[in-house]
Amino acid sequence: MARPKTRYVCQACGAVTPRWAGRCESCGEWNTITEHAAPQPVSGARGKGLPKGRRLKLVALAGEDEAPPRIHTAIAELDRAVGGGFVPGSAILIGGDPGIGKSTLLLQALAGMARAGKRCVYVSGEEAIAQIRLRARRLGVDESPVLLAAETNIADIISTLSEGERPDVVVMDSIQTLWSSVIESAPGTVSQLRAGTEALIRFAKKSGAVVLLVGHVTKEGQIAGPRVVEHMVDTVLYFEGDRGHQYRILRAVKNRFGPTDEIGVFEMAGSGLIEVENPSMLFMGDQEEQSAGSAVFAGMEGARPLMVEVQALAAPSALGTPRRAVVGWDSARLAMVMAVLETHGGVRIGGHDIYLNIAGGLRVREPAADLAAAAALVSSMSGAPLPPKTAIFGEIALSGVIRPSAQTRQRIREARKLGFERIITAPGAKGRGVREVAHVADLIALIAAGPARIAAE
Ligand code: TYD
Ligand code: MG
Repeated sequence: MARPKTRYVCQACGAVTPRWAGRCESCGEWNTITEHAAPQPVSGARGKGLPKGRRLKLVALAGEDEAPPRIHTAIAELDRAVGGGFVPGSAILIGGDPGIGKSTLLLQALAGMARAGKRCVYVSGEEAIAQIRLRARRLGVDESPVLLAAETNIADIISTLSEGERPDVVVMDSIQTLWSSVIESAPGTVSQLRAGTEALIRFAKKSGAVVLLVGHVTKEGQIAGPRVVEHMVDTVLYFEGDRGHQYRILRAVKNRFGPTDEIGVFEMAGSGLIEVENPSMLFMGDQEEQSAGSAVFAGMEGARPLMVEVQALAAPSALGTPRRAVVGWDSARLAMVMAVLETHGGVRIGGHDIYLNIAGGLRVREPAADLAAAAALVSSMSGAPLPPKTAIFGEIALSGVIRPSAQTRQRIREARKLGFERIITAPGAKGRGVREVAHVADLIALIAAGPARIAAE
């Protein structure tokens, strides 16, 4: 008889190798490879092709299907981020740093839905019942008919959910705590995580319940365990923010039932998360006194404008390799903008430590922020502030050319509405107060001319 085949799986990245090794060749992690029984092939009993299946009915692409009904949460910012409420039978993953407010958000959402008559179950693998009750009291939702369980065993959880009355919404906080006795590897490993998540997603599809899965995020900012979980679910949300700031952003990065560019904005207060309906000026510092190194980016998140202060500090470096520290923006993007400023603008950044910060703990992803970051950098290098009430946006190409951005007209309109008198952007944008810059050299000359000159133009 043939020996049962085993294979070795890295618990950090999911790579499969035929041999055990101390270090995973794929991701470089140490001591993450464990032994597993190889999965049975899908072929017939003796490996001679697939068993005969049934014939499927093929249908036309065109057809009338009703839009799926949605479950609303009583938290408009949450509904907005998922594209207008939860779709029954869908699985949603919510990732975020520990302590950012995932449990708080979900408890508040469940309480709202339970009050509206939905059967809501909150399963916590991290906190005891008493702790959850304490939080509910703090949030003022302890009277809401949410059902609780503190459990990590996936078989018990699925049996509880399947027997008795069907729940409408289930929260599993967090998937990293799930554990099944039929899987040999230890709790917290990728196999356990995958099996537990799979079981819950299957439950969602079969029962039509909405399943919300909480996932912790690793240092690198990904949901812990390999990305497999993100592929398995219908929607992936990230709850972002800086624990030092009170603002939190809920962002959809994958959504099978809606757009992925809408965000929900919240403020963490003493009594839980409060929705911020009009976040356009939230990520701005004090604009009374314009100082060097600060520029306002006219951003767009979905359909909403977001004016964001970009701060830069350039300081002569005492180090052989100057420091580059960036918070809230992509460090590769910063490196690119700096290289363009050096090569095509003659700005000698090389010997300076560079710090770049996005105010308010926001993470900016739009390429349109290039020009604002460049303006903040040039302003800090030259010591010349930008004039007040000036908003900036535009993408910088490697050639130094400034490219127009998506939604140019909306950005200008919204910036004007919010009281910005000047807008610096790529050529082609028409309008009062618009100052066009075609190349980074134009931007540098403009800033060097000084705020009074720009304001007078
Ligand atoms: P929590 O929801 O437990 O975060 P996560 O589940 O993402 O780990 O939020 C924890 C933080 O939020 C904690 O540091 C305290 C803070 N907080 C408030 O400021 N106000 C509140 O009403 C609550 C419940 C928590
Ligand atoms: Mg939590």
